[in-house]
Amino acid sequence: MLSTENNKLITKVGPGTPMGEAMRLYWIPIMMDFELPHADCDPVRVRVMGENLVAFRDSKGRIGLLPDACPHRRVSLYFGRNEEEGLRCVYHGWKFDVDGDCVDMPNEPVESNFKHKVKMKAYKTWEGGNVIWAYLGPSDRVPPPPKFEWTTVPDSHRGVTKLVQTCNWVQAVEGGIDTSHSSFLHNNDLSDKTLLRSRSTAPYLEVETTNYGYTYSSTRPLSKDEGNYIRTYHYVLPFHQIRAGQVGRSGEAVQPRSSGHCWVPIDDENTMVFNWTFTWDENPLNDKDKALEGTGNEWDVDIDRTTFIAKRNKGNDWLLDRQMQRTQNFTGIVGVNTQDRALQETMGVIADRTQERLGTSDRAIIAMRKLLLEAVKVAGDGGSPKGSQGEFVGIRAIDRILPADQHWTALKPEMYPVGTH
Ligand code: FES
Ligand SMILES: [Fe+2]
Repeated sequence: MLSTENNKLITKVGPGTPMGEAMRLYWIPIMMDFELPHADCDPVRVRVMGENLVAFRDSKGRIGLLPDACPHRRVSLYFGRNEEEGLRCVYHGWKFDVDGDCVDMPNEPVESNFKHKVKMKAYKTWEGGNVIWAYLGPSDRVPPPPKFEWTTVPDSHRGVTKLVQTCNWVQAVEGGIDTSHSSFLHNNDLSDKTLLRSRSTAPYLEVETTNYGYTYSSTRPLSKDEGNYIRTYHYVLPFHQIRAGQVGRSGEAVQPRSSGHCWVPIDDENTMVFNWTFTWDENPLNDKDKALEGTGNEWDVDIDRTTFIAKRNKGNDWLLDRQMQRTQNFTGIVGVNTQDRALQETMGVIADRTQERLGTSDRAIIAMRKLLLEAVKVAGDGGSPKGSQGEFVGIRAIDRILPADQHWTALKPEMYPVGTH
């Protein structure tokens, strides 16, 4: 449960809000790289953290990210001409480069130096993991680039998609660090009695705070001979989930994988979700895994590549099928992450946390909220909040079936393969 005040504090991220200012100290994923495919391509509207921006790639291939309002008389620069190293407003022809400098002002006398006095805000960008990231904070506090393991492996070893979710970002993150729901919401085969998470439905959670956020483990007892099914996760502030994927659903070993999401606020009521998966194996991902097949996050099957709107969405009850719910899976909804998104969107656009009743299985969620409140305080006091300085480089999520007398911390050497934590 949270007070009305704290619920507002962690969920609102527009310019000038405490959480918004804290989040602006992090690199934020804003677009897929294919949205700006080549030099001088079409400009793209980007709404992030309640700000309306326009992105373009100039003639040299550099990315510009500017407010979508011409400083002359406020028209949208999205309608501008992307030409010769700048974006030209089509109202009176003022032209801006990727640094926000006005480089041409053709409706003023040639002898005028007014153009040198007009400068737009221009945000820094970085490309990694087939994603374009932006830094929206103060220019004297730019953190190192966000090098997660999934952003650094070759393209052949990674799949990434993006879609729009119609609710506040915090309840989406909470869904990602809530392992106990997977026994129910994601039971996709009611007849299969071998599913580990159906066999053991009340995981024991332990949360260990780190300098990037926390790691948490879920321990599910199986039979005495088998031991415990352990899954570890990382929560990296403010909105990253990293989860394990080396144990198949009935306990079989699979190609070492990890998947996760970044839930980025479009504004307080909408979120863009980046879904990623990768392997650190020497062999690349197979086509199905690379495409995120079966998750509800697959391009062209589940998501429109231009609007980023999912086929199964709030407007059609995520194509709920009652017959399927009776006979095949727990929800009647297809796609593991569609199931997540559906339930998160039913909580109300901004969940009312004054009314909830949290149990022991919500330990990780409680810890996350504390960290968000702490980040707001640290940022407000002029410091660097956890996870903003690249502390997450070299972390992995691991799952395994361990003998009953082994604690999840036995997995730590694998969770921190480069030994930085
Ligand atoms: S409004 Fe853009 S040049 Fe006038
Ligand atoms: Fe889930």
